[in-house]
Amino acid sequence: MVTLTSVALAESDQEFFDKVIAGQRGRPGALLGILEKAQEREPRKFLSREVLEYIAAKTDTPLARIYSVVTFYALFNLEPQGKNTICICRGTACHTRGSRELLESLMFKLGFHDPEEVTADKIALNTSDGNYTIRTVACFGQCALAPVVEVNHAVYGHMNEQTLQRELEHLGKETAKK
Ligand code: FES
Repeated sequence: MVTLTSVALAESDQEFFDKVIAGQRGRPGALLGILEKAQEREPRKFLSREVLEYIAAKTDTPLARIYSVVTFYALFNLEPQGKNTICICRGTACHTRGSRELLESLMFKLGFHDPEEVTADKIALNTSDGNYTIRTVACFGQCALAPVVEVNHAVYGHMNEQTLQRELEHLGKETAKK
């Protein structure tokens, strides 16, 4: 039995999670469903330690197991995400059609100047102003449209520098209005 040593969540949050957990009880993939709903509820789309501890205690699941699930699935985040997410495919088809150059120029524009960061296996970087998250993915499964970039969940095929720059400017304006 996992014990909850300190309750760090507001009462309304606890009520929400209790309801979600009760709704998922006994279902296959219940833990994934709970975690997805928990992340969806958070405006910055991430799972805080407090939330994970609460879920662990209430589902009687070891915290280490919850962390292993969260770190295994790319859809879960342990850190607050930017207001905008740009995800660049680094699969072979996209790579041969210039996705690395797109990634490099995007990172440069958003203030990431360390060349080592571009070569990391998996990229998930947040700008310090909280406005952008840059991610990479192994393949979107849309190789015929290479290079593929996803901007706030909208998929763009045959992406090029100019279009990406235009998107970035558009996001910058929209974000400033909020
Ligand atoms: S390699 Fe980029 S979509 Fe498949």
